[in-house]
Amino acid sequence: MENKRPEWSSYISFIIAAVGSAVGLGNIWRFPYIMGKCGGALFLLIYLLLIALICVIPLSVELAVGKFYKGDPITIYNKINPKFKFLGYLCLITSILIPCFYFVVGGWILNYMWIFLQPSIPSDFAQYFGTLNSSPIVPIILTLVFLLISIVFPFIGLNKGIEKANNFMMPVFVIMLVTLAGYSLTLPGAKEGLEFMFKPDFSKFNSEMILLALGQALFTLSIGIGIMMTYGSYLKKDVNIIKSSYTLIFFDTLVAVLAGIMIFPIVFTNGIEPTAGATLVFISLPQIFVTLPFTKVLAFVFFTLLFFAAVTSGISLLEASLACYSEHFKMSRKKAAVFLFVLTSIIAIPASLSFGALSEFKILDKTFFDFLDYATSNVLMPICTIAICIVSGWVIPHIQKEAFGEGRYASVLSFLLKYVLPIILLLVLILGLK
Ligand code: PHE
Repeated sequence: MENKRPEWSSYISFIIAAVGSAVGLGNIWRFPYIMGKCGGALFLLIYLLLIALICVIPLSVELAVGKFYKGDPITIYNKINPKFKFLGYLCLITSILIPCFYFVVGGWILNYMWIFLQPSIPSDFAQYFGTLNSSPIVPIILTLVFLLISIVFPFIGLNKGIEKANNFMMPVFVIMLVTLAGYSLTLPGAKEGLEFMFKPDFSKFNSEMILLALGQALFTLSIGIGIMMTYGSYLKKDVNIIKSSYTLIFFDTLVAVLAGIMIFPIVFTNGIEPTAGATLVFISLPQIFVTLPFTKVLAFVFFTLLFFAAVTSGISLLEASLACYSEHFKMSRKKAAVFLFVLTSIIAIPASLSFGALSEFKILDKTFFDFLDYATSNVLMPICTIAICIVSGWVIPHIQKEAFGEGRYASVLSFLLKYVLPIILLLVLILGLK
Protein backbone atom coordinates (compact mmCIF):
# COMPACT_ATOMS: atom_id res chain seq x y z
CA MET A 1 0.00 0.00 0.00
CA GLU A 2 2.69 2.43 1.09
CA ASN A 3 4.76 2.27 -2.07
CA LYS A 4 1.65 3.09 -4.11
CA ARG A 5 1.55 6.57 -2.59
CA PRO A 6 2.40 9.33 -5.02
CA GLU A 7 5.73 11.16 -4.72
CA TRP A 8 6.92 14.56 -5.92
CA SER A 9 8.62 14.09 -9.26
CA SER A 10 11.46 16.36 -8.14
CA TYR A 11 12.61 18.31 -5.12
CA ILE A 12 12.08 21.57 -6.99
CA SER A 13 8.46 20.63 -7.68
CA PHE A 14 7.93 20.11 -3.97
CA ILE A 15 9.48 23.47 -3.10
CA ILE A 16 7.40 25.26 -5.75
CA ALA A 17 4.18 23.61 -4.53
CA ALA A 18 4.98 24.27 -0.86
CA VAL A 19 5.83 27.90 -1.64
CA GLY A 20 2.61 27.99 -3.67
CA SER A 21 0.70 26.89 -0.58
CA ALA A 22 2.46 29.36 1.69
CA VAL A 23 2.24 32.31 -0.69
CA GLY A 24 -1.38 33.32 -0.83
CA LEU A 25 -3.85 35.96 0.15
CA GLY A 26 -1.97 36.02 3.44
CA ASN A 27 1.06 37.57 1.75
CA ILE A 28 -0.57 39.99 -0.65
CA TRP A 29 -3.78 40.95 1.09
CA ARG A 30 -3.34 40.27 4.82
CA PHE A 31 0.36 41.03 5.34
CA PRO A 32 0.38 44.59 3.96
CA TYR A 33 -2.72 45.67 5.86
CA ILE A 34 -1.60 44.16 9.16
CA MET A 35 1.78 45.76 8.65
CA GLY A 36 -0.01 49.01 7.81
CA LYS A 37 -2.01 48.81 11.01
CA CYS A 38 1.06 47.96 13.09
CA GLY A 39 3.21 50.85 11.92
CA GLY A 40 5.37 49.32 9.19
CA ALA A 41 9.08 48.61 9.58
CA LEU A 42 9.12 47.62 13.24
CA PHE A 43 6.41 45.04 12.57
CA LEU A 44 8.45 43.71 9.64
CA LEU A 45 11.49 43.33 11.85
CA ILE A 46 9.60 41.44 14.55
CA TYR A 47 7.93 39.31 11.90
CA LEU A 48 11.26 38.37 10.31
CA LEU A 49 12.73 37.34 13.65
CA LEU A 50 9.71 35.27 14.61
CA ILE A 51 9.33 33.50 11.30
CA ALA A 52 13.02 32.57 11.11
CA LEU A 53 13.54 31.58 14.74
CA ILE A 54 10.17 30.31 15.95
CA CYS A 55 7.90 29.35 13.07
CA VAL A 56 10.58 27.29 11.37
CA ILE A 57 10.12 24.78 14.21
CA PRO A 58 6.46 23.70 13.73
CA LEU A 59 6.98 23.91 9.96
CA SER A 60 9.91 21.50 10.11
CA VAL A 61 8.27 19.02 12.45
CA GLU A 62 5.10 18.98 10.38
CA LEU A 63 7.06 18.23 7.22
CA ALA A 64 9.20 15.66 9.03
CA VAL A 65 6.21 13.84 10.53
CA GLY A 66 4.64 13.63 7.08
CA LYS A 67 7.85 12.42 5.48
CA PHE A 68 8.49 9.81 8.18
CA TYR A 69 5.00 8.41 8.75
CA LYS A 70 3.70 8.72 5.16
CA GLY A 71 -0.01 9.35 5.10
CA ASP A 72 -2.81 11.83 5.46
CA PRO A 73 -3.12 13.59 8.85
CA ILE A 74 -5.70 11.15 10.27
CA THR A 75 -3.72 8.07 9.24
CA ILE A 76 -0.50 9.60 10.61
CA TYR A 77 -1.92 10.49 14.03
CA ASN A 78 -3.51 7.07 14.15
CA LYS A 79 -0.13 5.44 13.40
CA ILE A 80 1.53 7.49 16.14
CA ASN A 81 -1.11 6.41 18.62
CA PRO A 82 -4.79 5.64 17.99
CA LYS A 83 -5.57 7.88 20.96
CA PHE A 84 -4.40 10.85 18.86
CA LYS A 85 -6.63 10.09 15.89
CA PHE A 86 -8.95 12.94 16.91
CA LEU A 87 -6.10 15.37 16.18
CA GLY A 88 -6.15 14.20 12.58
CA TYR A 89 -9.88 14.89 12.52
CA LEU A 90 -9.24 18.39 13.87
CA CYS A 91 -6.81 18.98 10.99
CA LEU A 92 -9.42 17.69 8.57
CA ILE A 93 -12.16 19.95 9.97
CA THR A 94 -9.85 22.97 9.74
CA SER A 95 -8.83 22.22 6.19
CA ILE A 96 -12.49 21.88 5.24
CA LEU A 97 -13.49 25.17 6.88
CA ILE A 98 -10.70 27.49 5.67
CA PRO A 99 -11.59 27.22 1.96
CA CYS A 100 -15.18 28.08 2.80
CA PHE A 101 -14.25 31.71 3.47
CA TYR A 102 -10.91 31.88 1.63
CA PHE A 103 -12.65 30.98 -1.63
CA VAL A 104 -15.19 33.77 -1.19
CA VAL A 105 -12.28 36.19 -1.47
CA GLY A 106 -11.06 34.12 -4.43
CA GLY A 107 -14.45 34.76 -6.04
CA TRP A 108 -14.09 38.53 -5.60
CA ILE A 109 -10.68 38.30 -7.27
CA LEU A 110 -12.19 36.52 -10.27
CA ASN A 111 -14.80 39.24 -10.52
CA TYR A 112 -12.19 42.00 -10.43
CA MET A 113 -10.13 40.27 -13.14
CA TRP A 114 -13.28 40.23 -15.24
CA ILE A 115 -14.24 43.88 -14.72
CA PHE A 116 -10.82 45.12 -15.76
CA LEU A 117 -11.25 43.29 -19.06
CA GLN A 118 -14.47 45.21 -19.76
CA PRO A 119 -14.63 48.35 -21.92
CA SER A 120 -15.93 50.49 -19.09
CA ILE A 121 -14.91 50.14 -15.47
CA PRO A 122 -16.74 51.25 -12.32
CA SER A 123 -15.89 54.71 -11.03
CA ASP A 124 -16.70 54.17 -7.37
CA PHE A 125 -15.27 50.92 -6.00
CA ALA A 126 -16.74 51.22 -2.52
CA GLN A 127 -20.15 51.27 -4.11
CA TYR A 128 -19.22 48.56 -6.62
CA PHE A 129 -17.96 46.23 -3.89
CA GLY A 130 -21.13 46.82 -1.87
CA THR A 131 -23.41 46.12 -4.83
CA LEU A 132 -21.44 43.01 -5.78
CA ASN A 133 -21.90 41.57 -2.32
CA SER A 134 -25.51 42.54 -1.87
CA SER A 135 -26.55 40.37 -4.80
CA PRO A 136 -28.06 37.11 -3.55
CA ILE A 137 -26.59 35.07 -6.36
CA VAL A 138 -23.37 36.56 -7.81
CA PRO A 139 -21.11 35.94 -4.76
CA ILE A 140 -22.30 32.30 -4.71
CA ILE A 141 -21.47 31.76 -8.36
CA LEU A 142 -18.07 33.42 -8.00
CA THR A 143 -17.16 31.33 -4.96
CA LEU A 144 -18.23 28.12 -6.64
CA VAL A 145 -16.30 28.92 -9.83
CA PHE A 146 -13.19 29.56 -7.76
CA LEU A 147 -13.74 26.28 -5.90
CA LEU A 148 -14.16 24.44 -9.18
CA ILE A 149 -10.92 25.86 -10.58
CA SER A 150 -9.00 24.95 -7.42
CA ILE A 151 -10.34 21.43 -7.16
CA VAL A 152 -9.59 20.42 -10.72
CA PHE A 153 -5.87 19.99 -10.00
CA PRO A 154 -6.10 17.75 -6.91
CA PHE A 155 -8.81 15.86 -8.83
CA ILE A 156 -6.32 15.16 -11.63
CA GLY A 157 -3.61 14.06 -9.18
CA LEU A 158 -0.30 15.02 -7.59
CA ASN A 159 2.12 14.97 -10.52
CA LYS A 160 -0.14 15.80 -13.43
CA GLY A 161 -2.43 18.20 -11.56
CA ILE A 162 -0.94 19.86 -8.49
CA GLU A 163 2.68 19.96 -9.69
CA LYS A 164 1.83 21.15 -13.19
CA ALA A 165 -0.47 23.91 -11.91
CA ASN A 166 2.15 25.19 -9.47
CA ASN A 167 5.00 24.90 -11.95
CA PHE A 168 3.09 27.15 -14.30
CA MET A 169 1.38 29.58 -11.93
CA MET A 170 4.19 30.32 -9.48
CA PRO A 171 6.81 31.52 -12.01
CA VAL A 172 4.21 33.67 -13.78
CA PHE A 173 3.15 35.01 -10.39
CA VAL A 174 6.74 35.99 -9.51
CA ILE A 175 7.29 37.72 -12.85
CA MET A 176 4.08 39.73 -12.41
CA LEU A 177 4.92 40.63 -8.83
CA VAL A 178 8.45 41.79 -9.62
CA THR A 179 7.15 43.82 -12.58
CA LEU A 180 4.47 45.57 -10.52
CA ALA A 181 6.87 46.19 -7.62
CA GLY A 182 9.30 47.74 -10.13
CA TYR A 183 6.50 49.91 -11.49
CA SER A 184 5.55 51.05 -7.98
CA LEU A 185 9.11 52.13 -7.32
CA THR A 186 8.82 54.67 -10.14
CA LEU A 187 5.89 56.41 -8.43
CA PRO A 188 6.34 59.64 -6.44
CA GLY A 189 5.32 57.98 -3.17
CA ALA A 190 8.04 55.30 -3.50
CA LYS A 191 10.45 56.90 -1.02
CA GLU A 192 7.78 57.38 1.61
CA GLY A 193 6.52 53.83 1.04
CA LEU A 194 9.99 52.32 1.41
CA GLU A 195 10.68 54.34 4.55
CA PHE A 196 7.42 53.14 6.02
CA MET A 197 8.48 49.56 5.32
CA PHE A 198 12.15 49.64 6.21
CA LYS A 199 12.82 52.44 8.72
CA PRO A 200 11.68 51.15 12.11
CA ASP A 201 10.19 53.53 14.63
CA PHE A 202 10.86 51.82 17.95
CA SER A 203 8.55 54.16 19.84
CA LYS A 204 5.64 52.39 18.14
CA PHE A 205 6.38 49.11 19.88
CA ASN A 206 3.58 47.30 21.69
CA SER A 207 3.26 43.69 22.73
CA GLU A 208 0.20 43.04 20.57
CA MET A 209 2.48 43.42 17.57
CA ILE A 210 4.34 40.27 18.55
CA LEU A 211 1.16 38.24 18.64
CA LEU A 212 -0.13 39.61 15.37
CA ALA A 213 3.22 38.93 13.73
CA LEU A 214 3.27 35.39 15.07
CA GLY A 215 -0.31 34.73 14.00
CA GLN A 216 0.44 36.07 10.55
CA ALA A 217 3.61 33.99 10.26
CA LEU A 218 1.78 30.79 11.18
CA PHE A 219 -1.06 31.55 8.77
CA THR A 220 1.19 32.41 5.87
CA LEU A 221 3.25 29.24 6.27
CA SER A 222 0.05 27.13 6.18
CA ILE A 223 1.17 25.52 9.43
CA GLY A 224 -0.92 23.41 11.73
CA ILE A 225 -3.67 21.91 9.65
CA GLY A 226 -1.93 19.00 8.04
CA ILE A 227 -1.07 20.62 4.70
CA MET A 228 2.65 20.52 5.26
CA MET A 229 2.26 17.03 6.73
CA THR A 230 0.51 15.92 3.55
CA TYR A 231 2.99 17.65 1.23
CA GLY A 232 5.86 16.27 3.36
CA SER A 233 4.45 12.76 3.01
CA TYR A 234 5.07 12.86 -0.74
CA LEU A 235 8.79 13.55 -0.18
CA LYS A 236 11.59 11.12 -0.96
CA LYS A 237 13.71 9.78 1.91
CA ASP A 238 16.86 11.83 1.34
CA VAL A 239 15.36 15.33 1.60
CA ASN A 240 16.85 17.66 4.19
CA ILE A 241 13.87 19.06 6.09
CA ILE A 242 15.35 22.03 7.92
CA LYS A 243 16.99 23.27 4.73
CA SER A 244 13.66 22.93 2.91
CA SER A 245 11.87 24.85 5.67
CA TYR A 246 14.30 27.75 5.44
CA THR A 247 14.02 27.77 1.66
CA LEU A 248 10.27 27.96 2.00
CA ILE A 249 10.44 30.71 4.60
CA PHE A 250 12.89 32.66 2.47
CA PHE A 251 10.65 32.68 -0.59
CA ASP A 252 7.45 33.26 1.35
CA THR A 253 8.97 36.26 3.13
CA LEU A 254 10.47 37.60 -0.08
CA VAL A 255 7.01 37.57 -1.66
CA ALA A 256 5.45 39.32 1.34
CA VAL A 257 8.13 42.03 1.22
CA LEU A 258 7.74 42.43 -2.56
CA ALA A 259 3.98 42.71 -2.05
CA GLY A 260 4.65 45.55 0.40
CA ILE A 261 7.00 47.21 -2.09
CA MET A 262 4.25 46.92 -4.70
CA ILE A 263 1.48 48.29 -2.48
CA PHE A 264 2.89 50.97 -0.15
CA PRO A 265 4.30 53.35 -2.80
CA ILE A 266 0.86 53.31 -4.46
CA VAL A 267 -0.77 53.96 -1.10
CA PHE A 268 1.53 56.87 -0.25
CA THR A 269 1.43 58.37 -3.74
CA ASN A 270 -2.30 58.74 -3.34
CA GLY A 271 -2.39 59.79 0.25
CA ILE A 272 -4.59 57.01 1.54
CA GLU A 273 -4.01 55.52 4.96
CA PRO A 274 -1.85 52.40 4.97
CA THR A 275 -4.16 51.25 7.76
CA ALA A 276 -7.11 50.98 5.35
CA GLY A 277 -7.56 47.34 6.42
CA ALA A 278 -9.15 44.44 4.66
CA THR A 279 -10.79 46.63 2.05
CA LEU A 280 -7.40 47.97 0.88
CA VAL A 281 -7.18 45.51 -2.00
CA PHE A 282 -10.80 45.60 -3.17
CA ILE A 283 -11.70 49.25 -2.65
CA SER A 284 -8.73 51.57 -2.10
CA LEU A 285 -6.27 50.04 -4.56
CA PRO A 286 -8.66 49.71 -7.54
CA GLN A 287 -9.75 53.27 -6.88
CA ILE A 288 -6.12 54.32 -7.25
CA PHE A 289 -5.44 52.11 -10.27
CA VAL A 290 -8.07 54.10 -12.15
CA THR A 291 -5.99 57.25 -11.71
CA LEU A 292 -2.73 55.70 -12.96
CA PRO A 293 -1.59 55.26 -16.56
CA PHE A 294 -2.33 51.82 -18.10
CA THR A 295 -5.16 51.33 -15.57
CA LYS A 296 -6.62 48.21 -17.08
CA VAL A 297 -3.38 46.36 -17.72
CA LEU A 298 -2.09 47.26 -14.27
CA ALA A 299 -5.23 46.23 -12.47
CA PHE A 300 -5.68 43.05 -14.49
CA VAL A 301 -2.10 41.96 -13.81
CA PHE A 302 -2.54 42.74 -10.10
CA PHE A 303 -5.71 40.68 -9.75
CA THR A 304 -4.29 37.87 -11.86
CA LEU A 305 -1.28 37.57 -9.60
CA LEU A 306 -3.60 37.60 -6.61
CA PHE A 307 -5.61 34.88 -8.32
CA PHE A 308 -2.56 32.65 -8.85
CA ALA A 309 -1.52 33.15 -5.22
CA ALA A 310 -4.98 32.20 -4.01
CA VAL A 311 -5.42 29.18 -6.30
CA THR A 312 -2.08 27.60 -5.38
CA SER A 313 -2.95 27.92 -1.68
CA GLY A 314 -6.47 26.69 -2.36
CA ILE A 315 -5.09 23.59 -4.07
CA SER A 316 -3.03 22.73 -0.98
CA LEU A 317 -6.00 23.23 1.33
CA LEU A 318 -8.15 20.92 -0.76
CA GLU A 319 -5.36 18.36 -1.12
CA ALA A 320 -4.99 18.05 2.67
CA SER A 321 -8.59 16.99 3.09
CA LEU A 322 -8.70 15.04 -0.14
CA ALA A 323 -5.78 12.93 1.10
CA CYS A 324 -7.84 12.08 4.21
CA TYR A 325 -10.84 10.92 2.19
CA SER A 326 -8.86 8.96 -0.32
CA GLU A 327 -6.35 7.33 2.06
CA HIS A 328 -8.10 7.10 5.37
CA PHE A 329 -11.66 6.66 4.16
CA LYS A 330 -10.51 4.72 1.07
CA MET A 331 -12.50 6.73 -1.47
CA SER A 332 -11.13 7.02 -4.97
CA ARG A 333 -9.41 10.38 -5.56
CA LYS A 334 -12.05 11.40 -8.09
CA LYS A 335 -14.97 10.48 -5.86
CA ALA A 336 -13.29 12.26 -2.96
CA ALA A 337 -12.93 15.42 -5.07
CA VAL A 338 -16.62 15.39 -5.99
CA PHE A 339 -17.60 14.82 -2.36
CA LEU A 340 -15.30 17.65 -1.25
CA PHE A 341 -16.78 19.97 -3.87
CA VAL A 342 -20.29 19.36 -2.57
CA LEU A 343 -19.31 19.66 1.09
CA THR A 344 -17.32 22.87 0.58
CA SER A 345 -20.12 24.39 -1.49
CA ILE A 346 -22.68 23.76 1.24
CA ILE A 347 -20.61 25.62 3.84
CA ALA A 348 -19.19 28.27 1.51
CA ILE A 349 -22.56 29.43 0.16
CA PRO A 350 -23.74 31.04 3.43
CA ALA A 351 -20.23 32.49 3.88
CA SER A 352 -20.40 34.09 0.44
CA LEU A 353 -23.67 35.78 1.40
CA SER A 354 -22.27 37.17 4.66
CA PHE A 355 -21.72 40.62 3.19
CA GLY A 356 -25.21 40.92 1.76
CA ALA A 357 -28.26 38.68 2.06
CA LEU A 358 -27.05 36.95 5.24
CA SER A 359 -25.29 39.87 6.91
CA GLU A 360 -27.71 39.66 9.83
CA PHE A 361 -27.06 35.98 10.44
CA LYS A 362 -24.56 35.93 13.30
CA ILE A 363 -22.69 33.32 15.32
CA LEU A 364 -20.91 34.64 18.42
CA ASP A 365 -21.77 38.11 17.19
CA LYS A 366 -19.90 37.50 13.93
CA THR A 367 -21.14 37.06 10.39
CA PHE A 368 -20.73 33.50 9.13
CA PHE A 369 -17.68 34.55 7.05
CA ASP A 370 -16.01 36.21 10.05
CA PHE A 371 -16.94 33.29 12.26
CA LEU A 372 -15.21 30.81 9.93
CA ASP A 373 -12.13 33.05 9.75
CA TYR A 374 -12.07 33.44 13.54
CA ALA A 375 -12.75 29.76 14.32
CA THR A 376 -9.99 28.55 12.01
CA SER A 377 -7.27 31.22 12.30
CA ASN A 378 -7.66 32.03 16.00
CA VAL A 379 -8.81 28.73 17.45
CA LEU A 380 -8.32 25.61 15.34
CA MET A 381 -4.96 26.47 13.71
CA PRO A 382 -3.27 27.33 17.04
CA ILE A 383 -4.73 24.20 18.68
CA CYS A 384 -3.51 21.95 15.86
CA THR A 385 -0.08 23.63 15.96
CA ILE A 386 0.22 23.16 19.73
CA ALA A 387 -0.75 19.51 19.18
CA ILE A 388 1.95 18.82 16.59
CA CYS A 389 4.56 20.55 18.78
CA ILE A 390 3.65 18.54 21.87
CA VAL A 391 3.37 15.25 19.99
CA SER A 392 6.71 15.67 18.21
CA GLY A 393 8.38 17.18 21.28
CA TRP A 394 7.32 14.53 23.77
CA VAL A 395 5.60 11.53 22.17
CA ILE A 396 7.81 10.85 19.12
CA PRO A 397 11.10 12.60 20.05
CA HIS A 398 12.98 10.69 17.30
CA ILE A 399 11.26 12.96 14.77
CA GLN A 400 13.33 15.91 15.98
CA LYS A 401 16.47 14.46 14.41
CA GLU A 402 14.54 14.03 11.18
CA ALA A 403 13.28 17.62 11.38
CA PHE A 404 16.30 19.54 12.66
CA GLY A 405 19.31 17.31 12.00
CA GLU A 406 22.06 17.13 14.62
CA GLY A 407 24.34 19.56 16.38
CA ARG A 408 24.02 22.50 18.70
CA TYR A 409 21.51 24.46 16.64
CA ALA A 410 19.32 21.36 16.37
CA SER A 411 19.38 20.99 20.18
CA VAL A 412 18.29 24.60 20.61
CA LEU A 413 15.38 24.00 18.23
CA SER A 414 14.43 20.83 20.13
CA PHE A 415 14.50 22.71 23.41
CA LEU A 416 12.30 25.47 21.99
CA LEU A 417 9.93 22.87 20.55
CA LYS A 418 9.46 21.09 23.86
CA TYR A 419 9.38 23.91 26.35
CA VAL A 420 8.88 27.28 24.68
CA LEU A 421 6.59 26.80 21.69
CA PRO A 422 3.66 25.19 23.52
CA ILE A 423 3.60 28.15 25.94
CA ILE A 424 3.90 30.83 23.27
CA LEU A 425 1.23 29.15 21.15
CA LEU A 426 -1.07 28.79 24.11
CA LEU A 427 -0.71 32.53 24.63
CA VAL A 428 -1.54 33.13 20.96
CA LEU A 429 -4.60 30.93 21.42
CA ILE A 430 -5.82 32.57 24.62
CA LEU A 431 -5.29 36.12 23.44
CA GLY A 432 -6.81 35.28 20.06
CA LEU A 433 -10.02 34.10 21.75
CA LYS A 434 -11.15 37.57 22.70
N1 PHE B 1 -0.74 30.32 3.52
C1 PHE B 1 -1.86 30.82 2.81
C2 PHE B 1 -1.78 32.31 2.63
O1 PHE B 1 -0.86 32.94 3.08
C3 PHE B 1 -3.15 30.58 3.48
C4 PHE B 1 -3.35 29.26 4.01
C5 PHE B 1 -3.54 29.10 5.34
C6 PHE B 1 -3.35 28.21 3.18
C7 PHE B 1 -3.69 27.90 5.87
C8 PHE B 1 -3.50 26.99 3.69
C9 PHE B 1 -3.67 26.84 5.04
O2 PHE B 1 -2.67 32.86 2.05
